[in-house]
Amino acid sequence: MFFRLDQSSKKDSSALHLCAYNGKNSGVLEKGLVSLNGALNSKVHEGIGIIDFFSGKKILITGATGFLAKVLVEKILRTIPEVDKIFLLIKARDKEAAMERLMNEIVGTELFKCLREKHGTSYERFVLAKLVPVVGNMRETNLGIKEDVANLIEKEVDVIINSAATTTFDERFDVALDINTRGAARIVNFAKKCKKLKLYVHVSTAYASRRSEGKIIEESFGKGHYVANSAGMIEAEIKLASEMIESSKENERDRNLKDLGMSRAQNYGWPNTYAFTKAMGEMVVEDTKGQLPVIILRPSIIESTLNEPFPGWIEGNRMMDPVMLLYGKGKLPGFFLSPEIALDVVPADIVVNSTLAAIAKHGGKESKLEDNNGSDDHVYQITSSVANPLITRHLLDLVYQHFNLNPCFDREGNPVQISAFKFFDFELIRRKSIEYFKYMANLYQPYTFFHGRFDNNKMAKLWECLSEEERKEFGFDVSSIDWKDYIVRKHFHGVRKHVMKETALK
Ligand SMILES: NC(=O)c1ccc[n+]([C@@H]2O[C@H](COP(=O)([O-])OP(=O)(O)OC[C@H]3O[C@@H](n4cnc5c(N)ncnc54)[C@H](OP(=O)(O)O)[C@@H]3O)[C@@H](O)[C@H]2O)c1
Repeated sequence: MFFRLDQSSKKDSSALHLCAYNGKNSGVLEKGLVSLNGALNSKVHEGIGIIDFFSGKKILITGATGFLAKVLVEKILRTIPEVDKIFLLIKARDKEAAMERLMNEIVGTELFKCLREKHGTSYERFVLAKLVPVVGNMRETNLGIKEDVANLIEKEVDVIINSAATTTFDERFDVALDINTRGAARIVNFAKKCKKLKLYVHVSTAYASRRSEGKIIEESFGKGHYVANSAGMIEAEIKLASEMIESSKENERDRNLKDLGMSRAQNYGWPNTYAFTKAMGEMVVEDTKGQLPVIILRPSIIESTLNEPFPGWIEGNRMMDPVMLLYGKGKLPGFFLSPEIALDVVPADIVVNSTLAAIAKHGGKESKLEDNNGSDDHVYQITSSVANPLITRHLLDLVYQHFNLNPCFDREGNPVQISAFKFFDFELIRRKSIEYFKYMANLYQPYTFFHGRFDNNKMAKLWECLSEEERKEFGFDVSSIDWKDYIVRKHFHGVRKHVMKETALK
């Protein structure tokens, strides 16, 4: 049984959070309790209390017209209908336009089909009772939220999840700084005004860590591991971007600002503008959070859903998928990719489920972060390359298997025959002059030749805290992912069906 809003679950909540409170030593704690008190031990196995935590809560989510937060919203509505309200910050000219985006781009998508089936004719009534579109923009003061709406949210919201970002690797530097870095400052500032706030959740990326070799542990920027004077650095970068805007001719501005971002990122050792500005976003959160309870989530490469609400749901042609699709269509024999690295992929539902568990753990009354400033307890890497590495040679064999079993068809309707994927050495690119592939190879090179592996120790510890029922309902055990099943039967089916809109798949 899950904990719901009944008397017994309320009574159990202190025992329920014992495990969470002692996150680091939960295994030891459990063993101790077995010998001390069998009854108490059984309560520890009642888990974190994810459903109990979210019941009756009000949440503000940014980035919900995007891929990840959409999966998050669907999961909450489907699994925890007891949630009170979810405010969704949406860029729009007015509230009618925000509502239109909510209906078309979020609840009207195929992702929500299970929820639609569950509620039948009352679907729209249900979602509109729970979801509140809020006109806003991460680039504006106070997130661009109208004063009366902001006042209401500040009074009522329990949890803020910031998933908004520009995710373009080589975005204009000024734009990426404004959304990913300064946007973080704006939302932390907003969060500090929220009177009942239990947790601010900052969605970052594993590649923000800058390290690219060996086992990369879950260090925060809080202790100054990476950059000594982060505030000074960020100020200087913002100034550089402003100067570039002023000194560039209009027709060169875009190009110059894109180049500036990439060169500033690489100057400091980050792979691209995106990772650099996300890293600075994390620094801003660490520098300005004060007493605000915060967790930082760092997923690696998020791909289609593994199981929920159904396997293979994805939006947008992401990361390596465009390259793999060209390969499947027989238009590309291979790519610039190291065959022996682990490409760190996590299915979107795994990211969502671990996010919900981490929120319930850290947002629970008894489980406030012990040391909000000095420790790394609040940083989670949601990653697979240490726990269950997907080696590129294996991955490409699975991609080959997928397209052999489910071939693409040429214009004449004949199945396209493909050969085993070829791994090109990055050096080759220097001798090639095909501009598009040169561009793609350069853009992906930090990922396709990335030799680091992201530890997910905290995620594993979090998993230990879940009850059996929670593990079924909020599964995120990356070590149990069957990559063959996922890549051959789920992921590429999903990409071809939902992104490429192919109808002839088996
Ligand atoms: N996808 C991945 O593989 C991956 C991996 C690791 C971490 N992450 C992180 O996960 C989060 C979600 O990623 P995603 O893949 O879902 O991104 P996405 O599909 O590109 O969606 C980005 C979202 O941010 C919103 N946004 C952008 N600029 C905004 C602004 N100025 N004001 C308000 N909202 C704004 C977008 O709204 P519009 O629709 O209005 O543009 C959209 O809803 C991001 O923080 C990203 O850095 C993603």
